[in-house]
Amino acid sequence: MNKHDWSPKKYFILTYGCQMNVFDSEVLSGILEAMGYSPANSEEDTDVLLINTCAVRQKAEEKVLSKLGRLRSIKKKNPEMLLVIWGCMVQQKDLAEQISSRYKYIDLIGGPHALERFPQLLEKARTSSKTVIDINDEGERDHLHIKRGHDFKAWVPISHGCSNYCTYCIVPYVRGPERSRPPERIIQEVKELAKNGYKEITLLGQNVNSYGKDIKGGLDFADLLQRLDAIEGLARIRYMTSHPRDFNDKIIRTIEKGRKICEHFHLPVQSGSNKILKLMNRGYTREYYLELINKIKSRVEHCSITSDIIIGFPGEEDADYQDTLDLIQKVQFDAAYVFIYSPRKGTKATAMADQVDLEIKKERIKKLNKIQGKISLDKNRQLLGTKQEILVEERSKTNPDMITGRTRTNKIVHFSSEENLLGKLIDVEIIEAKSWTLTGKYLP
Ligand code: 5AD
Ligand code: SF4
Repeated sequence: MNKHDWSPKKYFILTYGCQMNVFDSEVLSGILEAMGYSPANSEEDTDVLLINTCAVRQKAEEKVLSKLGRLRSIKKKNPEMLLVIWGCMVQQKDLAEQISSRYKYIDLIGGPHALERFPQLLEKARTSSKTVIDINDEGERDHLHIKRGHDFKAWVPISHGCSNYCTYCIVPYVRGPERSRPPERIIQEVKELAKNGYKEITLLGQNVNSYGKDIKGGLDFADLLQRLDAIEGLARIRYMTSHPRDFNDKIIRTIEKGRKICEHFHLPVQSGSNKILKLMNRGYTREYYLELINKIKSRVEHCSITSDIIIGFPGEEDADYQDTLDLIQKVQFDAAYVFIYSPRKGTKATAMADQVDLEIKKERIKKLNKIQGKISLDKNRQLLGTKQEILVEERSKTNPDMITGRTRTNKIVHFSSEENLLGKLIDVEIIEAKSWTLTGKYLP
């Protein structure tokens, strides 16, 4: 008899990547707990170690590969531990085979579509001498088991996959085409969450604005928002990620009228150059984007606007980069997440001519981040002295007197209090502003 037959079995999950991956890890945790596992305190002392991977940029993959190298010794010390590599990275062509032949001590490799088969796969891996691999691109993704990370805010997927095919992006290849979840199921899930005291939900999808297009006679995204806004008990509705092309007037009107839909618009622009936007297959121009932003600003008071930007896409010349700088000045984003273009195998952009030199990419990103940092600081300073409602999210690990919450506009606010305010909506006065965070004074 091995020791795991009688001692409680433990699991540990490491998650890379986006919110959808964080949610997938909640489902995997839920399944493991239904199988009798309980959470481990460390990755060294566990019976199952699962790494949920991301494929969106090379850097995320490198982190996983170096982690895998370091796990060799842990696996040697504890050969009974099951090592699982999961998610988007291993769903890429040939990667699962390459990884399993290089790191023979991996027990199970599974792609994002294999969620529903996870229990059987894990059992198979326990007795198999070879790495078990499931990168089949089909599988029901609706989940019976979820172990939520919080008891006051929750992720709610509304669609899986993506059918946009932006030329730089790996997501359609690893997560498949867009499939919307039936609206009744989403509404039911949110009602349950509200009944159980949840204050905030974040709707998840690779392109939430095109929700419902693949369901005949169903609701569109604006209709769905409207139904969710009417659910009693809930205080905040967030959603991500939006696609500027599909962010139509009906959605803006719904947000304007809604009581719970937060005034935060995350609208990834990716580039300010029409030439690059076309090469990226984004389906809009900078003029369209600027008009959309103006419409939002004029209709939704006190809103915040954030974005994603890719620097160094193939063919990006200095004039294109200047167009991006000009756009960020015109929009005045509250924050922008800027990434260096990373070629992904199998995407169209990888094969494009005029790949940009890494040194130039680094120079451009550094300058852009500096400019955006100033804009973010300016925007945050405008909030000094104002009263803001925040949802209290966590106590600081390093300073137990400090608590962190978020405004409806998704700004992080630190403040001090000894009271247990977790999960509560409270008011603070903003007393200090930095580029990325605010400090507040609790107004009991
Ligand atoms: N290289 C760099 N950034 C990328 N993103 C997506 N694919 C790539 C890539 N190949 C960025 C986009 C997207 C965000 C989630 O990641 O800006 O909005
Ligand atoms: Fe999320 Fe895309 Fe990364 Fe997959 S590849 S984890 S969908 S960001």
